[in-house]
Amino acid sequence: MPKYAPIHKRVKRHVIGREHHFFVAAPPALAGLIDRELRQLLVAENELQRRPGGFGFRGRLTDAYRINLQSRLSNRVLMQVSSFKATSFRRLAQKLSELPWELYLYGESALKIRVSTHKCRLYHSSAIAERAQEQVRRQLAQFGLAPVEERHFDQVQHLFIRGVNDRFSVSVDSSGDHLYKRGIKTHGGRAPLRENLAAAVLQLAGYDRQRPLLDPMCGSGTFSLEAALMAANIPPGWFRRFAFMEWPSFVDRRWQHLRKQHEAVMRKTGKAAILAFDIDGAACEALKQTLRRHHVADWITVDRKDFFDFSPGEWTGSKGVVVLNPPYGRRFTTAADQSGLDSIFKQLTRFYKGWRLALVSPRKSLNRKLPFEVKIYPIAHGGLAAAVAIGEIT
Ligand SMILES: C[S@@+](CC[C@H](N)C(=O)[O-])C[C@H]1O[C@@H](n2cnc3c(N)ncnc32)[C@H](O)[C@@H]1O
Repeated sequence: MPKYAPIHKRVKRHVIGREHHFFVAAPPALAGLIDRELRQLLVAENELQRRPGGFGFRGRLTDAYRINLQSRLSNRVLMQVSSFKATSFRRLAQKLSELPWELYLYGESALKIRVSTHKCRLYHSSAIAERAQEQVRRQLAQFGLAPVEERHFDQVQHLFIRGVNDRFSVSVDSSGDHLYKRGIKTHGGRAPLRENLAAAVLQLAGYDRQRPLLDPMCGSGTFSLEAALMAANIPPGWFRRFAFMEWPSFVDRRWQHLRKQHEAVMRKTGKAAILAFDIDGAACEALKQTLRRHHVADWITVDRKDFFDFSPGEWTGSKGVVVLNPPYGRRFTTAADQSGLDSIFKQLTRFYKGWRLALVSPRKSLNRKLPFEVKIYPIAHGGLAAAVAIGEIT
């Protein structure tokens, strides 16, 4: 189709109607779980492949929509728009100027460019980003502006340029905000876990949506909110927007169709038993407000309590899953951290026999004999070498 054909026709043919190469960026520590998750969301024809830093697959835009909406564990989904070799800025600018940017982005969108290079003659990231910004802007300006009265542009569009051995791949980011952002919480709390990490910990602990879930140092409530989403069968991206919604290729009808498929199975599992508490009353209040704001106050029971004054028998007769992320400092091998953990284990062995435990803590603090058998999974949390201990309390 010639370049001067109406843009919507070119978008339909070249972007909507074609398969693309996508890349799902994933935290390395969760790669095994994400592999399983993506295989459930994709089909064999998508040819999922493990790559450094994530997974590649071939598919349609709707496959990318689905992963954005449903992946509890991934970081973001990128759509590759070009791949070429360049050893000079002239060549880089030329290749970037040849791309039909008007099929991927609107001129009104704010654009950020992220560059990484490895063993490339062009290694100056900000100079590469500057050239790319210039070329994309110039190209989009030729095509005028989008019909703004119909659209609002609240997403920053990200372009990812990655060079390895002088070969550059250029991708547009379909997610926008990092996927761990569910669009639910507006409060931060102290050292909150990322939602995708919390979801992975719940999966590792065997949280099955039926058993009671106890979150006794809940902070901002990340574990409880993730468990509530799982229990109600609500996709993690249900409450947020994505960058692809502000692409020329976005067809709201298709997106609404995907959402409708979920609506049919949402909240069918019945009310889950989830209790979140914290010694910090303000943290509990912030979590309650969040739940009220989304009209889901019945999802989670929230209370101000001290973990050391509570036994789970007061709440439920069943054996459930207890998730703990006790506070710790940067100098996490201090005696105080250690003795804090000792008293937590004492409380657990006294009152929680038969419960499943998931405990997030500095890796070093778990490197010792614990009163019952646990499996240790290394994770990265807030720049620290952390780990999660999973086991049955005996
Ligand atoms: C690292 S933060 C938990 C962060 C949480 N996972 C989140 O994602 O927001 C630790 C929390 O433990 C709470 N805490 C400390 N001692 C406690 C106790 N004895 N009983 C209950 N909560 C306690 C703190 O108030 C703090 O909110």
